[in-house]
Amino acid sequence: MGLQHLSRQLMHRCDELGAISDEAGRLTRSFHSPAMRRANTLVGGWMCEAGLEVKEDAVFNLIGRWPCERLRAKTLLLGSHLDTVRDAGKYDGPFGVLVAVAAVSALRRERVRLPFHIEVVGFSDEEGLRYQTPYLGSRAMAGTLEKKDLLRIEEKGIQRAKRKPGELLAYAEVHIEQGPVLEAEDLALGVVSGIAGQSRIRVEYIGTAGHAGTVPMAMRQDALCAAAEFILAVESCGPTATVGQITAQPGASNVIPGRVVLSLDVRHLADAKRLRAVAALRASASAIATKRGVRTLWGVVQESASVACDPTLTRMLKSAVRPHQARVLMLPSGAGHDAVAMSAICPVAMLFVRCKGGVSHHPDESIKSADVAKAIAVLRDFILLLARRHA
Ligand code: GLV
Ligand code: MN
Ligand code: MN
Repeated sequence: MGLQHLSRQLMHRCDELGAISDEAGRLTRSFHSPAMRRANTLVGGWMCEAGLEVKEDAVFNLIGRWPCERLRAKTLLLGSHLDTVRDAGKYDGPFGVLVAVAAVSALRRERVRLPFHIEVVGFSDEEGLRYQTPYLGSRAMAGTLEKKDLLRIEEKGIQRAKRKPGELLAYAEVHIEQGPVLEAEDLALGVVSGIAGQSRIRVEYIGTAGHAGTVPMAMRQDALCAAAEFILAVESCGPTATVGQITAQPGASNVIPGRVVLSLDVRHLADAKRLRAVAALRASASAIATKRGVRTLWGVVQESASVACDPTLTRMLKSAVRPHQARVLMLPSGAGHDAVAMSAICPVAMLFVRCKGGVSHHPDESIKSADVAKAIAVLRDFILLLARRHA
């Protein structure tokens, strides 16, 4: 099967996967949900077709293995995630898993022998939709889950997904760019230099609920007004910062909100700048609470430092991209990826593929079949370059 055919097949597979959802009328797949079970079964079947030995690990990561003849060889891990955000597009995550399946399928048909095992992984949770904490699948594999994660998560025994030290040779991930740079530069592919660090924080305001018609405006402790003022402080704090979720209680149109919980997501490639912004926002949250006579609580849900992609793997990716376009562009990722978690136990590299309008985390995500064919070719050639180096 040629690359054009593999690319068309991949586009159809993304359509098929995009119809597997936990919610009617929109694409939503969260950790270990019924839709994730069905997605793993479907992709597992495609992995089998590609000749891979398929299993699920203890955290429900789907893994397709192509063992090499050297039993003690290390494993090259390829893939991305199969979970999605709420009301998602169909390419963020599954695309990278299916590019890996296609590249491996091409190499198996060519009867290539490799000096390392290959595993294609569909991580079970990258977006963090179910527990508001990202990279559950890859952190379990890297062995970096924290006690607070294990307390929060209903599924037991997921630490068993941890891989042995030194077992993995590298992790390489293909992903849609999720930004507008490649399209603006008229390039199909880009090589990722590094991934921004993230802070995810739960902020709570506690005021006093009361009657919307009788409590005078000057006598209120309205938790939602405090939250609103804080959200505007977030908008102007400097780094990329977002309040994406908010709940107000008791939640009735004629009751003053007594309690508000909001999510805060702060990102920057420079960790020091991110941490400075987070400290300044914490001070603003307190100052707003004091001024308005409410209380505030601040809970860090998760923090990850920025990650630099491995220079040697990145050089190989660049060599693999070169035949396909006039220039090789390096670009940073503002979005998080499983490569962040995997960087704790092995070197990582990433390839970006242009997406229409830079749109992602939205049902309008769109990619071109011709770009997909190039991505499959690049991943295939990258594996061969790595094989030559480890021969
Ligand atoms: C994952 O897509 C993230 O960057 O939030
Ligand atoms: Mn995403
Ligand atoms: Mn993703």
